[in-house]
Amino acid sequence: MATFTERMGPVLLFWLGLCLSGTWAVDKGNFKTCDQSAFCKRQRAITPGESPYRALLETMELTNTKLTLQLINDNNKVRLLLELYRLQGNITRVKINELKPLKPRYEVPDVLIREPPTEPLSLLSQDENGVVLSLGAESQRVIVSARPFRLDIVEGRDVLMSLNSRGLLGFEHLRMRKDTQADPEADNKEATDPPSQVETTKEEEEKVEDGMWEETFKSHTDSKPNGPSAVSLDFSLPGVEHVYGIPEHADTLKLKTTDSGDPYRLYNLDVFQYELYNPMALYGSVPVMLAHNAQRTTGIFWLNAAETWVDISSNTAGKTVFGKMLDYVQGSSETPQTDVRWISESGIIDVFLMLGPTPREVFSQYASLTGTQAFPPLASLGYHQCRWNYNDQEDVRAVDAGFDEHDIPYDFIWLDIEHTDGKRYFTWDPHKFASPKEMLQGLMDKKRKMVAIVDPHIKVDTNYKIHNEIRSRGFYIKNKDGADYEGWCWPGSAGYPDFTRPDMRAWWAGQFAYDQYEGSMENLYTWNDMNEPSVFNGPEVTMHKDALHGSWEHRDMHNLYGFYVQMATAQGLIERSGGVERPFVLTRAVFAGSQRLGAVWTGDNAAEWDHLKISIPMCLSLGLVGISFCGADVGGFFKSPSSELLVRWYQTGAYQPFFRAHAHLDTPRREPWLFGPENTALIREAVRQRYTFLPYWYQLFYHAYQTGEPVMRPLWVEYPQDPATFALDDEFLLGRDLLVHPVTEEGARGVTAYLPGKDEVWFDIHTFQKHNGVQNLYIPVTMSSIPVFQRGGSIIPRKLRVRRSSACMEDDPYTLYVALDNRRTAEGELYIDDGHTFNFEKREFIHRKFSFTNNVLSSVNLEPDAQFTTKSWVERIIILGASKPSKITLRTADDQENQLEFDFDASMSVLTIRKPGMNAGADWTMTLQ
Ligand SMILES: *[C@@H]1O[C@H](CO)[C@@H](O)[C@H](O)[C@H]1NC(C)=O
Repeated sequence: MATFTERMGPVLLFWLGLCLSGTWAVDKGNFKTCDQSAFCKRQRAITPGESPYRALLETMELTNTKLTLQLINDNNKVRLLLELYRLQGNITRVKINELKPLKPRYEVPDVLIREPPTEPLSLLSQDENGVVLSLGAESQRVIVSARPFRLDIVEGRDVLMSLNSRGLLGFEHLRMRKDTQADPEADNKEATDPPSQVETTKEEEEKVEDGMWEETFKSHTDSKPNGPSAVSLDFSLPGVEHVYGIPEHADTLKLKTTDSGDPYRLYNLDVFQYELYNPMALYGSVPVMLAHNAQRTTGIFWLNAAETWVDISSNTAGKTVFGKMLDYVQGSSETPQTDVRWISESGIIDVFLMLGPTPREVFSQYASLTGTQAFPPLASLGYHQCRWNYNDQEDVRAVDAGFDEHDIPYDFIWLDIEHTDGKRYFTWDPHKFASPKEMLQGLMDKKRKMVAIVDPHIKVDTNYKIHNEIRSRGFYIKNKDGADYEGWCWPGSAGYPDFTRPDMRAWWAGQFAYDQYEGSMENLYTWNDMNEPSVFNGPEVTMHKDALHGSWEHRDMHNLYGFYVQMATAQGLIERSGGVERPFVLTRAVFAGSQRLGAVWTGDNAAEWDHLKISIPMCLSLGLVGISFCGADVGGFFKSPSSELLVRWYQTGAYQPFFRAHAHLDTPRREPWLFGPENTALIREAVRQRYTFLPYWYQLFYHAYQTGEPVMRPLWVEYPQDPATFALDDEFLLGRDLLVHPVTEEGARGVTAYLPGKDEVWFDIHTFQKHNGVQNLYIPVTMSSIPVFQRGGSIIPRKLRVRRSSACMEDDPYTLYVALDNRRTAEGELYIDDGHTFNFEKREFIHRKFSFTNNVLSSVNLEPDAQFTTKSWVERIIILGASKPSKITLRTADDQENQLEFDFDASMSVLTIRKPGMNAGADWTMTLQ
């Protein structure tokens, strides 16, 4: 701590200030409430039912691909332009901007993977009240009502979604500042406004409110050269009681109503010791909400990267103000309804209405806009050992050896900020890490890897090459006066590269080249922390909103910063290998589209039981919006876990996508063998279970990469008609086939797991005991219990010979777990490739389908044009729910027939077929007689 104290200076004061406040709760006073955020307060004050917006139907233009229409605000006569598109795959896009803004307003770049392809819109009817357009599929229509303006998306007799039905559309037009300038508007008006507006403008009557042109929070003043620029819009979801998503919040899976408190906030922030079960902002922001009921799933993607607040209220349809045109479709006033309202500080309204109707279709619709999960290297699905910090090379060597000594597999060891030369990223401490290549080679010899941190705050130091280059190239973000922006972070005074610039990102990517990043090797990967960005002495511990990215304010794109940091870093890892190797980059800050770039973790949690519990809904919420590769720090970052909590956390983390232990600098060491032999054994067993399932994890990630479906998913995704699954926070599915109900209660003697599906059976993966759905199953537990069930009807490939690391297990044989359903059938998949390159894009892989039906188990090639060979073979097949055969015959592709040996356990109905011996890539059938 002494050297830490000396080095940190002012930063330490900040840090100590927080640490010494005595409690382990967030200091809420450091972060704004809606009331303290001028635009949120203004927009939230808009009264429902009094929308001043009217659609000017005479301005309507309909081309084959889009509808455009002007809206007028009858209070100030400012006109907006509405654009409406029907996109491929049941998506409607609605854009609203000022018709003639004083200057361009920010439109989020780089998040959509392409300009979304459109489909034709056609006019069904039109009168003085509005127009009706066909959306093609299943009699879906958009009804545009003129007075007040509203949009309804209707299918048959059902209203799926209504916009501005509560009249909360708000659009603060850009204006010249009046109080300090001598009527600059006189000229401006004539130049920019349509003639009809000039005579009738009432703009001068609009009052200037506090916070429109300047806003102060604590000691920070936000100059607002562009004045008020907020946008907001309400959405009504008839028939919906459950909404999900809009991560990142430390809250339940089912979002809560916000009537009695603050809205959910989306503003990427480094929140010190975050509190649970509240709507405060955290490190990431994905402005996507899913709505679900037993009939349908829909989604709303609000593409805006400025600070955003989301209000949710629950209502009945009868209570809201519905337009006359719709009275006939509404029926009973008792229909439940959820109303949401989105409020953003700047930019435009650009919203994608994803109409489902199934959860899978919403995932696919969202993936068609923003892409799918990056397909990670297989090794990154193994276990990761991290702490702040492994002190030096000897420490790394000793920890690495500890895993071998205690027979616990791991794939990556991590170095936090102390590995650098004075928090200068891309460097190594010359004393503690004097020969990084030797260290990395030592790991490589054991087929293991390392991650080193590279943060986006760059030490201002003229002896630091990275700083000098960024400064001389003009790549730093500027402050409002045009000088390089400087803030305090780990290195002391730091600059922040402008990652929104493609040339900056290209330069940054180049720094990962082996000849640039000294001491790096191919088994060194990267962690981007603090990329909200964290600015210790900035407003709300982040960057000033009036900082400049070229002509745009930081305000406009704050939530995108971390996305770009990870993008540039991942690009660097790809380029250093000549485009051959898949990158692995962990990020803390995310936005929509971050799924394309790597993994995310839930930030600085604490060693508390509630933090273990919240890891489930937090990762489920990220998964629902495409970000599958999610994990929470195992053990908890702050504080020190009891051995019971640590064991339970390993058991839970082993069944979550990103599996990494991490700990704060001030906590006692907690490598898995430091808690006595019994606990070491329990942790070993949990980690080993993870490794046995790696083939399944890998196949799930391949699937997520192809389809956008989450790897770790809420039960309602698979059982969408079962309301009992709609709000579960303590269990989840991996793919369709593994149901996990980890033990997250201190001193637990048992857990009650909900087993869904009235035709389903579920097999305990440890005892092979069979249970019927639907039931609440009480499971007595001991410290070794990890309640996990395999769905009857599935086939899961596993590798039971666990070794030092995943790479050591590459050629190992498979065991197939065939769990029969009530019809005595099952199916599953196996995906194999080299585990680390992009060659799978050139179709170098094996993708097989296993099926069991009519007592025949077969393996067929799902993608016959793909080519790959494997040394792995099938060493064992375990059939759960089987009856005893008299003989088993294997027929291979060359028409050879063999009788196979087997054991049958009549008490559990488990059939074990020994050494069938086929290559994992081969065609075969196996007949049970
Ligand atoms: C579009 O919606 C219709 C009706 O709700 C549905 O039948 C169809 O499968 C959907 N198509 C896609 C691509 O999502």
